Amino acid sequence: MNATEPVRHIGLIGLGTMGSALALNIAEKGFPIAVWNRTVQVTHDFHATAGGLAAMITPTETLAALVAAIPPPRAIILMVPAGQAVDDQLAALTPHLDPDDLVIDAGNANFHDTNRRTAAGLPFHFMGLGVSGGEEGARHGPAIMVGGALQDWASVEPMLLAIAARSDDGTPCAAYLGPEGAGHFVKAVHNGIEYADMQMIAEVYGVMRDGLNMAAADIGDTFARWNDGVLRSYLVEISGIVAKAHDRVSDGPLLDVILDAAGQKGTGRWTVIEAQNLAAPIPVIEAAVQARNVSARLAERAAGQAVFGPVEAGGMDISTEDLEHALIAGKILAMRKAFR
Ligand SMILES: NC(=O)c1ccc[n+]([C@@H]2O[C@H](COP(=O)([O-])OP(=O)(O)OC[C@H]3O[C@@H](n4cnc5c(N)ncnc54)[C@H](OP(=O)(O)O)[C@@H]3O)[C@@H](O)[C@H]2O)c1
Repeated sequence: MNATEPVRHIGLIGLGTMGSALALNIAEKGFPIAVWNRTVQVTHDFHATAGGLAAMITPTETLAALVAAIPPPRAIILMVPAGQAVDDQLAALTPHLDPDDLVIDAGNANFHDTNRRTAAGLPFHFMGLGVSGGEEGARHGPAIMVGGALQDWASVEPMLLAIAARSDDGTPCAAYLGPEGAGHFVKAVHNGIEYADMQMIAEVYGVMRDGLNMAAADIGDTFARWNDGVLRSYLVEISGIVAKAHDRVSDGPLLDVILDAAGQKGTGRWTVIEAQNLAAPIPVIEAAVQARNVSARLAERAAGQAVFGPVEAGGMDISTEDLEHALIAGKILAMRKAFR
């Protein structure tokens, strides 16, 4: 792809949760977009519900039609599940693309796969994009972590800066981070840090509920108070709201009736595996991934509880101020520069 030609038209494959939100964001920022989805009906449903943005969106039913709808040199975003689906889509696109075209894998790829795909010498340009912020972020402004060739970044930089989130001072949250899988690597570590953040929040919640016998409303108020201080963050903010949520069926706190078994898609685990490969100490993230592994083994935990009994409620002697300080300290440790 020629760096002197910034991308104005773009294609997108995969109109799931993330792809459809990202496509609307791109269209809203003034970039015409052609879209294709494996299940054709999804494409038509997406276009039919795009409202005022539909005029910026070209729905297509075949990959050939998708490619034909984008002026060359083309840039096409893949937003499909990481792994085999990406390899399959790259293979399916190959006969349709020119050497100057660019395919951008914006899913949660393992950075080793992005390195492998780059090294394989695909017959078009290839870039790995870490996208953070979930559906809401994709729709209104994700954080974007770019890996690939600098000239390809230059061609898509104006569009990526336009759709990205903005920091408080207005700086776009999109950056070129290095070659090959650098963007996906940073995205994985970023997710690992988020695992740590969520685990620590869950643990202080557990201390407040079981150790201090605090009512759900008081726990919610405590998170809300912390969110006015140095802990201010999206996760602490929603923790306050979730802790207070009421379940109408049980007439009690919603959190008490949610199955306490967390799954994981892989990025936290990849961060830990990579840290071990590099002999880099990231104990807070490792503990968080371990806790998820334990959490998912619901039957084993139930068997253990049958032997050792449930957690004894109350009896802990710790202030919420000390818990706040522990959370701050844990966050600093989770974010310290472990990879060198
Ligand atoms: N959800 C998030 O918060 C989030 C955040 C950051 C990154 N991501 C990453 O973004 C990517 C997409 O996630 P998502 O949440 O949007 O997934 P999703 O809602 O499950 O959508 C998956 C999309 O990929 C298509 N697809 C599935 N398997 C395919 C295959 N073998 N070949 C071609 N297309 C296929 C699906 O098409 P059909 O309609 O035909 O099934 C659908 O359009 C993943 O890599 C995910 O890890 C997700």
